[in-house]
Amino acid sequence: MQFEGKTVIVTGATGGIGERYVHAFASAGANVVAADVPAVAEAGAGLAEAAGCAFVAADVTSDEDWTALVDRAHDEFGRVDVLVNNAAIYQGLGAKRPLTELACEDWDTVLRVNVRGTWQGIKAVVPAMRAAGGGRIVNISSSTARMGVPGFVHYVASKAAVEGLTRSAARELGADGITVNAVAPGLVSDEATRALNTDAYITAAAGGRALGREMVPDDLIGAVMFLASGSGGFLTGQTLVVDGGVVFT
Ligand SMILES: NC(=O)c1ccc[n+]([C@@H]2O[C@H](COP(=O)([O-])OP(=O)(O)OC[C@H]3O[C@@H](n4cnc5c(N)ncnc54)[C@H](O)[C@@H]3O)[C@@H](O)[C@H]2O)c1
Repeated sequence: MQFEGKTVIVTGATGGIGERYVHAFASAGANVVAADVPAVAEAGAGLAEAAGCAFVAADVTSDEDWTALVDRAHDEFGRVDVLVNNAAIYQGLGAKRPLTELACEDWDTVLRVNVRGTWQGIKAVVPAMRAAGGGRIVNISSSTARMGVPGFVHYVASKAAVEGLTRSAARELGADGITVNAVAPGLVSDEATRALNTDAYITAAAGGRALGREMVPDDLIGAVMFLASGSGGFLTGQTLVVDGGVVFT
């Protein structure tokens, strides 16, 4: 898939998976604007250099930051074609906890970033996509939304909400030529998941897959790029579960 002349915004871009999306789109010729929280601006600058992309320090829960991010994409590349709403609180969840031990503050923080931030991103890019005659929005969910994994009920609920948001936004924006889809990854084996899960859990997850192996960040790239491409143009409101064959939808 080629993205020459297309501008792609990726949020949560310095995370374990986000940076893979940045490299993949940049390698396919896209003008990539990578974004992440100001606290990781140094890593963002390194990513920008390595991938040959722009980096903007932006918190997805700030409308002002979204305006600055979209303005930068527009000023530098003249258009916005694709948004990959990848930012989420995932690694920051810490150890799994019973739902009786979660505080309202934990719930609000996760829902604020994972759901509200996703909606704020859609809201921010729509005017530029309308001006360009259409666009592609890819939200990142999680297969846990369908499996109901215990221990982080707020995260699972947030990803189920992302899928509902995806369907609703798809209906609302279809007439503008804007598609809105989601990708729901299974458990990816990387530093972040190894910190959050035991080795036994990761091995069991791999064993439960039809494809019988651990999943790596690059396993997600094909699905995300397809939904972001011209080839994915008649698909909207859908969630593609990319988990090696655990959840069948
Ligand atoms: N790793 C997995 O196994 C897995 C499985 C299913 C879904 N996912 C989803 O994939 C995406 C990427 O996951 P990851 O493993 O790279 O997670 P991660 O925790 O490593 O990265 C998340 C990124 O989002 C950024 N972020 C957090 N809050 C933000 C905010 N307010 N504004 C802007 N950026 C913010 C973080 O700085 C980080 O770079 C997430 O949406 C996650 O929920 C991951």
